Amino acid sequence: MVMRQFSLAVSIALLSWSAAQAQPFPTGVAAKGQALHAAKCVSCHNSMMPDGKGEELYSEFSRKMTNATQLKGMVEFCANRTRSGWFEEEIAHVSRYLNDSFYKYTK
Ligand code: HEC
Repeated sequence: MVMRQFSLAVSIALLSWSAAQAQPFPTGVAAKGQALHAAKCVSCHNSMMPDGKGEELYSEFSRKMTNATQLKGMVEFCANRTRSGWFEEEIAHVSRYLNDSFYKYTK
């Protein structure tokens, strides 16, 4: 019994540890990403969608991304195309924001 409780405690500790490790954009700040995204990204995505809701691109049903590496690559691609002048820092903020809000990838 004591042993079972102990191993339960160990599993919980391990689980929360791996949840903490499973953040693919640890340097990104979601609030900063949200502001950058609103400034540079939203209007074009909105204009692409028949109902004007650009964030539907990110939904499970329409997304083409399958992991955090692809997500970051697409953020970079779109950011470069718009000549946003973003550096690694801004890419991380926006990737973090999109991942926290929509994609929820752990890697
Ligand atoms: C000039 C228009 C335009 C702008 C501005 C733009 N995008 Fe995009 N974005 C697109 C298009 C078009 C696609 C869809 C490509 C496809 O589905 O093949 C897309 C797709 C994406 C996707 C992938 C969606 C998915 O899961 O399949 C991400 C992520 C993304 N954009 C991020 C950004 C970010 C971040 C910015 C701001 C820097 C941005 N975009 C600005 C046109 C734009």
